[in-house]
Amino acid sequence: MNVLKQFDLSGKVAVVTGGARGLGRQAALALAEAGADVAICGRSTDGTPTATEIEAMGRRSFFAKVDVTKSAEIEPFVEEVIGRLGKIDILVNNAAIGTRGQSLETVSDAEWHEFMDGIMNCMFYVAKPIARHMIARGEGGVIINMTSINAFIISNIAPRYNVPYCVAKAGVAHMTHGMATNWAPHKIRVNGIAPGFIPTEISSALLQNPDIMNRMLAGQPMGRFGQLEEIKGAILFLASDASSYMTGHNLVMDGGATLW
Ligand SMILES: NC(=O)c1ccc[n+]([C@@H]2O[C@H](COP(=O)([O-])OP(=O)(O)OC[C@H]3O[C@@H](n4cnc5c(N)ncnc54)[C@H](O)[C@@H]3O)[C@@H](O)[C@H]2O)c1
Repeated sequence: MNVLKQFDLSGKVAVVTGGARGLGRQAALALAEAGADVAICGRSTDGTPTATEIEAMGRRSFFAKVDVTKSAEIEPFVEEVIGRLGKIDILVNNAAIGTRGQSLETVSDAEWHEFMDGIMNCMFYVAKPIARHMIARGEGGVIINMTSINAFIISNIAPRYNVPYCVAKAGVAHMTHGMATNWAPHKIRVNGIAPGFIPTEISSALLQNPDIMNRMLAGQPMGRFGQLEEIKGAILFLASDASSYMTGHNLVMDGGATLW
């Protein structure tokens, strides 16, 4: 098969959590540009403009307000996607809360749980009913979990050590290994993407502090942060048959930041 055909997602149906803005929005656009219909969900930002943009490409799309930390909201959404778009082939498990940057001894138990729930547990809550659907359908599928380079390294931008965020993202990276092995017999491939710093609403507040910005830039071998659209190629590669023999991999995309 021509290699470019391996990237074709015509006839596929995808779900992107947190697809209204930031990296999730870019993921949704990438999947739609490659031919997929895309359902978007999110908690706060309205994803209707992104869904409208996708419909203008000739794909089917809709946005639903869903809090991914609540299974009681996820399961009806999954049913709605299957009802309206027919099936689910691809999940981009993207939605998560950002870092708060406290030193560990000041983190309350409630905040610790909030990070585990808002970053790691939510990805399990979303993947479970979608995997059940994929297993029942018997056609396999693809799951992409958004982790971070902070799964592998602790941020050294004091006082923003971000330990709860890092631990939760490490959990996501290892959950990807577990999901990949558990669901491989059902032809479900599960991979992660571990981006470095890409300014979005979750992260751009950091750049308002020139000292932090300069220290973060000094840690970038390429001398720059990532750009939003740079996530699209990685998403399409992992979502498509171009990565058909890959599962359980966390793809680092960080301009070399973890090399130093
Ligand atoms: N931007 C970066 O530098 C960077 C780096 C590494 C990893 N990531 C990861 O990439 C993903 C996207 O980040 P982003 O930078 O685009 O952030 P963002 O804040 O711009 O977008 C996150 C989206 O997820 C939604 N969301 C958050 N919690 C939710 C919940 N409980 N239920 C439903 N929707 C929820 C938000 O409403 C928002 O639409 C996250 O998992 C993040 O941890 C980002």
